Amino acid sequence: MEKINMGQAAAFTSPNPLVLVCTRKENGELNMAPVSFVMYTSFNPPMLAFAMGRASNSGENLRRTGKAVIAVPGLSLAEAVMAYGSCSGADTDKLAYTPVELQSLEDVDISIPADSRAAFAVSLSQTVEAGDHYLYVCNIDGMFADGSKPALFAWDGYTKAAPAAIS
Ligand SMILES: Cc1cc2nc3c(=O)[nH]c(=O)nc-3n(C[C@H](O)[C@H](O)[C@H](O)COP(=O)(O)O)c2cc1C
Repeated sequence: MEKINMGQAAAFTSPNPLVLVCTRKENGELNMAPVSFVMYTSFNPPMLAFAMGRASNSGENLRRTGKAVIAVPGLSLAEAVMAYGSCSGADTDKLAYTPVELQSLEDVDISIPADSRAAFAVSLSQTVEAGDHYLYVCNIDGMFADGSKPALFAWDGYTKAAPAAIS
């Protein structure tokens, strides 16, 4: 085997999971950011965790409000995912700049893209320092899915959002 670095690791382990972390900004705007560092962590109670760079606006929103919705994006969102991943909600109204059709979930005040395969409404349980990222360990308060919509995955070191099977 050859020695590799973290950038190469992301490419070698493609496709990686992909979610959109949807949060509410301090000014009330919705923010969305693609994240691949995501995993389930517990069946009972249902929990998941994801890691984001320390300066991310999504993380700041989650730490302030304690709430987020983790949406699994559908195929039509490939371009929006890359756009949302290339700027920060700290200085950009991403949804105004790159609008997508939204849907609401029952008893959740953070909207998500209409084209979502699954969505997890979460509450922040623990913030763990993890190198240059924070690991957000969350309780899952609600789970939703639409099996008719295929999911996007992250390919080639996070440079491309595409289905798991590419022909
Ligand atoms: C496919 C893809 C996957 C990404 N995965 C992560 C990730 O796991 N963790 C992370 O911190 N940033 C990840 N990013 C980068 C963030 O989405 C990016 O830094 C974004 O600008 C953060 O936005 P925010 O400041 O509004 O939260 C990814 C970007 C792309 C395009």
